[in-house]
Amino acid sequence: MIARTSIDQVYDAARVEEVIGDFIVLKKSGTNFKGLSPFSQEKTPSFMVSPVKQIWKDFSSGKGGNVVAFLMEHEHFTYPEAIRYLAKKYNIELEETQQTEEVKQKNSERESMYLATQMAQSFFETTLWERSEGKAIGLTYFKERGFKEETIRQFGLGYAPEKITALSDAAKTEGYSLEFFEKTGLVIFNEERKQAIDRFRGRVIFPIRTLSGRVQGFGGRILKKDAKTAKYLNSPESDIYQKSKVLYGMYEAKKSIAREDCCYLVEGYTDVIQMHQSGVVNVVSSSGTALTVDQIRLIRRLTKNIVVLFDGDAAGVRASLRGIDLILEQDMHVKICNFPEGEDPDSFAKGKTQEAIRTFLQDQAQDFIQYKANLLLEESQNDPVKKADTVRDIVQSIAKIPDVIQREVYVQSCAQIMEMSEGVLFNALAQLLQKQQQDKSKRRSSKPAMEVVKEASQLAPKLDESFELEKQIIRLLLHFGDQTVQFEEVLLEKDDQGEVKEAVQQMEIKVYEKVFLDLQQDEIELTHPFFQKTYNKMIEQFQDSGSLQPQYFFDGSESEQDGLLSEMMMENEKYQLHNWEKKNIFVQSPKEKIVQSVTQTILTLRRYLIGQKITALTHDLETTSEETADVLEEISMYNELRQLVSQKLSRVI
Ligand code: CTP
Ligand code: MN
Repeated sequence: MIARTSIDQVYDAARVEEVIGDFIVLKKSGTNFKGLSPFSQEKTPSFMVSPVKQIWKDFSSGKGGNVVAFLMEHEHFTYPEAIRYLAKKYNIELEETQQTEEVKQKNSERESMYLATQMAQSFFETTLWERSEGKAIGLTYFKERGFKEETIRQFGLGYAPEKITALSDAAKTEGYSLEFFEKTGLVIFNEERKQAIDRFRGRVIFPIRTLSGRVQGFGGRILKKDAKTAKYLNSPESDIYQKSKVLYGMYEAKKSIAREDCCYLVEGYTDVIQMHQSGVVNVVSSSGTALTVDQIRLIRRLTKNIVVLFDGDAAGVRASLRGIDLILEQDMHVKICNFPEGEDPDSFAKGKTQEAIRTFLQDQAQDFIQYKANLLLEESQNDPVKKADTVRDIVQSIAKIPDVIQREVYVQSCAQIMEMSEGVLFNALAQLLQKQQQDKSKRRSSKPAMEVVKEASQLAPKLDESFELEKQIIRLLLHFGDQTVQFEEVLLEKDDQGEVKEAVQQMEIKVYEKVFLDLQQDEIELTHPFFQKTYNKMIEQFQDSGSLQPQYFFDGSESEQDGLLSEMMMENEKYQLHNWEKKNIFVQSPKEKIVQSVTQTILTLRRYLIGQKITALTHDLETTSEETADVLEEISMYNELRQLVSQKLSRVI
């Protein structure tokens, strides 16, 4: 782990405009810089960089954040990778922190495993290129398959000799302990642990890499056609290699997937390599196993569009269809592309130009739902019972799609394909959705109430009043937190006759202090974790230095939220960009307007929370047999309070 102080040093040194300037042509525009969005194909620039705030915002894709977020989005770095990149650029030496013994041990164990796989990869590769057995058997095989030397090197392909201790001998000679070769499954000890033998023998080797390019495992293909052993042998699961979380070719494909905004999914190692060699780089493989949710999420970080390429002989197409429902559930757009009888992407791509392949893929790729409807229809022609099953099956897939409008479009097109009325399909869909909803709420009801509320608010943030109010508080602090303004404070005082009266007092105070004090007084905590976190950071910064350094608000863990935050920060720029009418209060507001907005927001939040309290109490009243009188009294007290707040509100508005 990188020490906090080093991370701060990196942030202090890094200039967002310089770093982004290495990737995008930026032009000065007022106090900001403008450029063409790297995340979309646009002709008029809507990508803004603010040197003052040290953040960026891409108004065409909605993305935004600080300098680190940019590197994570654009270069697909992980957080530590981005920090290391910046440290290098700005010549900062990073200090690694102390870790607990346990973490240290685990990490060093993983590191040792990577050292073993790294050594093995070099060994296999060297054998392929430099040893006579490797050249004669392995290299010849790859070349016969049509792989160019450049491609073979790019994927780090190799050859494992026949000799049963070739790798273990080499490892020992180079001074490695075999412990980590065993942990990564590269060698296997016999029962008395006297003899170690290599897992991969007489096979060509496909190294499997992590997202950042380290070797985590291997696939080895047998060369003899008549062999009784499995065609492919793969590394076993280990601390550094979990099949379900890996897609072969991801390291090589990630940039292209993001750029093309599309990912091709194939079945095998050789499909990836052959297509890559032909210039279609946005390809990954699930290595012959059913797709997992983790793998889909891996792709989803880069694109929402996925095209599944099926082998021409695919007996397994039917079986694979289920897996594809998983992709739909992740709110991705899925297309299917079938290859001609007896061909897979590897054999098809061999010797073809990039253009020919792309044209084929474009022509053949069929929307998944429509594909499925056609396929099932073919099978159930003239069989009414089967046809009913088919309808249910299709509707089940459609029900997985989270987007309502998308669902509707599908119902319409499927009705057409299957020559049925849309009404029937809509009905079936409605029934299924209702059932899903019931199942969900059944599952939910076992959770604590707060969890459910949180979940709901994450699902439908736009409809959530508290979300909007809390967002508004953050916006106000962002834009006006350090401004000094006059607030009215209503105090209760006794006059000469001892009567309690309201006295209005003018207070000169900073906006952030006002917000902080008011929320603290009412013991209000923001309920959305992201807002709460940002709020705490802001207050801390204001109290420390009296101003904000917004670039520190991003931690890169939630890109959607980073987008939201940068959008709030750059609101003024957005209005400048579009020359929109300046009706927004965030464009050079007079002080009275700020006061009004702050007061109004806090009061509305207060009223909302009181309302929540009343609802909860009323609910208690219905469900428990507790002392009802107490509860009733509490409700009436809160009702009074709410009225009071409402009155104040009407005075402000
Ligand atoms: N696979 C595997 N073990 C097997 C067979 C297949 O792990 N016994 C995986 C491999 O990742 C392989 C993928 O499933 O790449 C697809 O299998 P298949 O289509 O049979 O192999 P191809 O990739 O087409 O390999 P080749 O062209 O070399 O026969
Ligand atoms: Mn093949």
